Amino acid sequence: MYRITLVPGDGIGPEVANATKRLIDATGVKITWDIQDAGENMIKEHGTPLPESVKESIKNNKIALKGPITTPVGTGFRSVNVALRKEFDLYANVRPAKTYKGIPSRYENVDIIIVRENTEDLYAGVEHMIGEDAAESIKIFTRKGCERIIRYAFEFARKEGRKKVTAVHKANIMKCTDGMFLNIAREISKEYLDIEFEDMIVDAMCMNLVQNPEKYDVLVLPNLYGDIVSDLCAGLVGGLGVAPGANLGKDIAIFEAVHGSAPTIAGKNLANPTAMMLSGVQMLRYLGETEAANKIEKAISKVLGEGKYVTSDLGGQLGTTEFTDKIIETLSEV
Ligand code: NAI
Repeated sequence: MYRITLVPGDGIGPEVANATKRLIDATGVKITWDIQDAGENMIKEHGTPLPESVKESIKNNKIALKGPITTPVGTGFRSVNVALRKEFDLYANVRPAKTYKGIPSRYENVDIIIVRENTEDLYAGVEHMIGEDAAESIKIFTRKGCERIIRYAFEFARKEGRKKVTAVHKANIMKCTDGMFLNIAREISKEYLDIEFEDMIVDAMCMNLVQNPEKYDVLVLPNLYGDIVSDLCAGLVGGLGVAPGANLGKDIAIFEAVHGSAPTIAGKNLANPTAMMLSGVQMLRYLGETEAANKIEKAISKVLGEGKYVTSDLGGQLGTTEFTDKIIETLSEV
């Protein structure tokens, strides 16, 4: 019996979280869900979108499945997502981007794993105004931060039987920060001679990903490039509705979809829960529940492959609930 924190979140969060919970429960894996509310609605009552009780629950359970949480743009409270990653030192953000038959995409055979550094870079949030007409934000890279994410990418590649790691940077311009990241990647790559290594400047990387995404395998990137390039990769394989993710630290892990709270479609039974379900698959693999993980992935693949029973973002007519019912029904056929 596992005890897992479930944070439904804002916007479409509760709908996709509930869908994923139902699906995981249907596999028979025994989980007690510790449901914890965080997000916009908490501010009135708790004065913060991230109440202490949520952090306590994650600290105790060591594993969480989380829905998206709204972050106001340009003003207001800081991102709850960034706060959680910092609080628990979840330094590795792992985002698979894979083409599934049935999901409309311009490409075939894309199977990329994005390993994004999750705690440093411009996301350290050290920024301030200089008078009224200038602003400064500090880009922080540490040797420890670069080493652990690059090592994580190589270890992941080895464990998953992957062939190549590409380190993405802009070391031609930012010679201290990105330069350090690149030099450390080059040093560490020498310890993994079974894995091919290459490096690429981030702008060239974007062009190459759009032209030939099949050529890439594991990408390792600093925080900001990782954030942007992982959305680009989500776009290569059918969009945000199908892009899952995991935030991993030394002994705590939070699994969440790449997409946000999609406020314009919230509460309308329109959200595609696939991304959150695939985040659940990553969570089950992390727990060692490989059979349940494979079953869910196969059921999703089968339903999407048929192309008929999909949500409106993929050109279908099913609502979130009906799509989830269909996946659960398919579990017994795979
Ligand atoms: P978004 O991902 O919420 O939406 C972008 C577009 O994709 C919208 O058209 C939306 O309707 C669509 N979309 C997203 N997820 C979908 C799904 N599951 N099914 C069908 N369509 C889907 O990004 P946006 O609009 O930039 O952000 C909205 C809010 O979410 C912001 O406050 C942002 O800060 C927050 N956010 C939170 C994240 C998290 O909690 N991890 C990640 C990204 C954004």
